[in-house]
Amino acid sequence: MRTRVAIVGAGPAGLVLSHLLALQGIDSVVLEVRSREYVERRVRAGVLEQGSVDLLVGAGVGERLKREGMVHHGIELRFEGQGHRIPLSELTGGRAITVYGQQEVVKDLIRARLEAGGQISFEAGAVSLHDLETPAPAVRFEQGGTTHELRCDFVAGCDGFHGVCRDAVPAGGLTVFQKEYPFAWLGILAAAPPATAEIIYAYHERGFALHSMRSSQISRLYLQCRPDETLEAWPDDRIWGELQVRLGAGGGWSLTEGPILERGITTLRSFVVEPMQHGRLFLAGDAAHIVPPTGAKGMNLAIADVRVLAEALTRWYRTGEADLLEAYSATCLRRVWRAEHFSWWMTSMLHRWDGDEGIEHRLQLSQLRYVCGSKAAAMSLAENYVGLETV
Ligand code: APR
Ligand code: PHB
Repeated sequence: MRTRVAIVGAGPAGLVLSHLLALQGIDSVVLEVRSREYVERRVRAGVLEQGSVDLLVGAGVGERLKREGMVHHGIELRFEGQGHRIPLSELTGGRAITVYGQQEVVKDLIRARLEAGGQISFEAGAVSLHDLETPAPAVRFEQGGTTHELRCDFVAGCDGFHGVCRDAVPAGGLTVFQKEYPFAWLGILAAAPPATAEIIYAYHERGFALHSMRSSQISRLYLQCRPDETLEAWPDDRIWGELQVRLGAGGGWSLTEGPILERGITTLRSFVVEPMQHGRLFLAGDAAHIVPPTGAKGMNLAIADVRVLAEALTRWYRTGEADLLEAYSATCLRRVWRAEHFSWWMTSMLHRWDGDEGIEHRLQLSQLRYVCGSKAAAMSLAENYVGLETV
């Protein structure tokens, strides 16, 4: 088997890359270890920055996104029993975010690729990468019990945090920067109409809580929990009780409860590798970096990386110039580090770090009051949240 660009992973990074390359007439093969049903059902993040929406619409895969995506012009921060709106659009010259589940983005892209005759091999797991320092690298993968080899000009490692591509870089080739947080998120998807029109981030003495949504009938909610906790410790009534308290039910407002359709616990981590390239391997999305979800940046970074990569590969195929490919890592890392900082900052401000009413708590409350009370501080949050184009 041979292709120009071997793409490992059919998440947002791999699929957007394959689509953008196809628009430029560059063929690729996407290898995905899971089944199509699995990746289309996997519940993940759901916030798209304006720039991500513009890219998907501009690339012709935004029709359902424009129809079903929920455009939000603000978010709410809740603390000390009060809600404070951050008017994102007012503070950023009209930019907005769109709430649209990651698996919906994935579904739209898979359909577009397959309809255009694109090649996505499901249940094809990459096991090793070869000859990355030569002009003809290869990906070995397993499908249907046999090992196959895909030769290519370039490998795009879009296989997420637990993939194999990052580990294919020889020892010493990458520097890892990481930080783990002493808490996790318990996330649920519930068949319950959202009790809010805009996303609510709540700081509470019992821990952080987040109210988001997927449609007028489906809510997406998260609770801070301990990283070592299991779902067995969280029966439905405990989840709802805790969400009601932390989101500040009472005084006429309460959360709408309903059957829980999906639940999971995610640990929070900040992680970056530098550089995001080795020879003819280019890492993109979660394979290269992880942000804690509090800034809603994960999917947007994945899309931003592959936009840069698609442009660089297009230039290489058109002119033979490798300048954009050589600049790939540095170009991406500027945005990545801005998002890393913003996500760390939001996470630090909104989670309970300790059980007492110590210095952290007072510093956090002071920061929250400042962000909600000062236009300059609110504007800083807003421009990062909707997505900074250049930093
Ligand atoms: N071979 C083939 N595919 C693989 C392999 C492998 N060895 N290992 C992992 N994969 C697949 C996974 O099954 C997954 O479908 O790679 C894909 C990686 O997709 P994502 O994890 O969605 O990563 P990415 O495309 O970078 O998107 C980042 O995902 O985790 C969220 O918050 C994150 O929103 C962000 C987004
Ligand atoms: C979501 O809707 O899943 C969501 C929203 C905001 C976040 C994280 C996740 O910060």
